[in-house]
Amino acid sequence: MRDFRDKTAVITGAASGIGLALARRAAAEGMHLVLADIEGEKLKTAAATLNVAAQSISLHTVDVSRDEDIAALADEAFRRFGAVHLLCNNAGVGLTRVTWEHSLADWQWVLGVNLWSVIHGINHFLPRMLEQAEGGHVVNTASVAGLLSTPGMAAYNVSKHGVVTLSETLYGELAHLKAKVGVSVLCPAWVPTGIHESGRNRQERFGVPGAASELSRAYEERMGQAVKSGRLNADDMASAVFEAVVEQRFYVIPHRKINQAIQLRMDDILQLRNPTPLG
Ligand SMILES: NC(=O)c1ccc[n+]([C@@H]2O[C@H](COP(=O)([O-])OP(=O)(O)OC[C@H]3O[C@@H](n4cnc5c(N)ncnc54)[C@H](O)[C@@H]3O)[C@@H](O)[C@H]2O)c1
Repeated sequence: MRDFRDKTAVITGAASGIGLALARRAAAEGMHLVLADIEGEKLKTAAATLNVAAQSISLHTVDVSRDEDIAALADEAFRRFGAVHLLCNNAGVGLTRVTWEHSLADWQWVLGVNLWSVIHGINHFLPRMLEQAEGGHVVNTASVAGLLSTPGMAAYNVSKHGVVTLSETLYGELAHLKAKVGVSVLCPAWVPTGIHESGRNRQERFGVPGAASELSRAYEERMGQAVKSGRLNADDMASAVFEAVVEQRFYVIPHRKINQAIQLRMDDILQLRNPTPLG
């Protein structure tokens, strides 16, 4: 897709961070916006900063881990604007603690928001996008955590590896079909956003997280610092995404320094070495 004007973008997790930056960029391109987030009030406040005419924007309080919420979001987006050209499955949450301290509810929360959300998005939007003569593009926000296995982030890593392989699978299928719908996967490293405060959005049905050991708290502290010190910001992520959509590029990995770690993992696998521990 080269021309975004008057096309429709659907963005989840749009109240904050990378999702809001994607919305800002989509607005600047003259797109109609369908924005979704679990933080409805914050979404309204954020949307007011976008300077988009009321008839071109639609706001939705949704829990992306719920199939029925994404089904309703898709119905409303197609009803209101007739087509969806850019789908950004972006909402996500982080959790930092050692693997054996993840409760079942921790796993269900992180996989629900980070992985099932993308599955719901594809199921409810893609069939209709494939039917559109003008095609479109799906962008799934994964992470470099989908390409590496950083300690202290088991559920997050599993969810993001899931998003990467789901996206790669979809890419192969759409390529075979010579479909007019493209797909990209966004894999950022650290970006200063609200991700290290994800617990604010933990739904009641997942309860409160259990007590964390000293080791888990140390990982948490390190993750928080790393997020805050990220050198590229959310707008850089949005620029990288729009560039990739124009160029029909699949992998969007804006932090190029991470290549060394990816290379090391690939070499470990190919040479049957044990995994080299990451920081
Ligand atoms: N910030 C980073 O360092 C980083 C790095 C790699 C990947 N990512 C990914 O980027 C994406 C965006 O995160 P961010 O960094 O902008 O964090 P953020 O916390 O600023 O934004 C995430 C948004 O998702 C929303 N959200 C959370 N749970 C939801 C739910 N159940 N339903 C609907 N919306 C929900 C939040 O309210 C928030 O507005 C996530 O998928 C995250 O995993 C972030």
